[in-house]
Amino acid sequence: MTHQDELKQLVGKEAVKFIKDNMVVGLGTGSTVKFMVDALGQRVTDEHLSIIGVPTSERTRQQANRLGIPTKGVDEVDHIDLTIDGADQIDKHFQGIKGGGAAHLWEKIVAINSDKNMWIVDESKMADQLGTFPLPLEVIPYGSTQLFKRLKEKGYQPEFRMAADKHVTTDSNNYIIDLHMHQIDDPKSLALDLDQMTGIVEHGLFLNIVNTVIVGRETGPQVLHA
Ligand code: A5P
Repeated sequence: MTHQDELKQLVGKEAVKFIKDNMVVGLGTGSTVKFMVDALGQRVTDEHLSIIGVPTSERTRQQANRLGIPTKGVDEVDHIDLTIDGADQIDKHFQGIKGGGAAHLWEKIVAINSDKNMWIVDESKMADQLGTFPLPLEVIPYGSTQLFKRLKEKGYQPEFRMAADKHVTTDSNNYIIDLHMHQIDDPKSLALDLDQMTGIVEHGLFLNIVNTVIVGRETGPQVLHA
């Protein structure tokens, strides 16, 4: 295991301490969340917890079910007590970029329907300003080449996310366009602009969503409250 993976595992284990019996828990997506779901599976087995997981991707649903964590879809639950997710970058105002794993649409839907949101990250994800991590957009395939041109004209430096010469597709069968902006000076106005562009289903700016961040540091897990 790499050192970075050790930090991801550390925060994954720390995060599950916040889960109590009978909670409905949103389960994020990504390599950090994978450690958290492993740790939750262990608790469910050892402590016979009655937990319902609401997964934010097919990948997470499959992992949870394999570990004996029962899951429901976001439309099958009354409420979600707490969602634990990863993030690609977090600035000093607790604004985040997500979607590096192409799951930010479902992640945002689960997040905005959760009472509380927690992000778990290794310390490399903390930044003064957002933008060095490319900003993911989930876009409808129909008209996406025209949308790409409009994004380029705006200077947003778009790039279709590809794998082996094929478009990466999301769990909703959409495409991903990453914006290589390097520096996002005003996340709120960028979010508003992207919200208004037809063809973009959701962008990866998660503003004013998180309540608690657990950062994996050399010195141990650091719990920060937004
Ligand atoms: C999934 O689309 C993302 O939002 C992830 O939550 C984010 O990319 C963090 O993933 P890692 O834990 O793998 O870095």
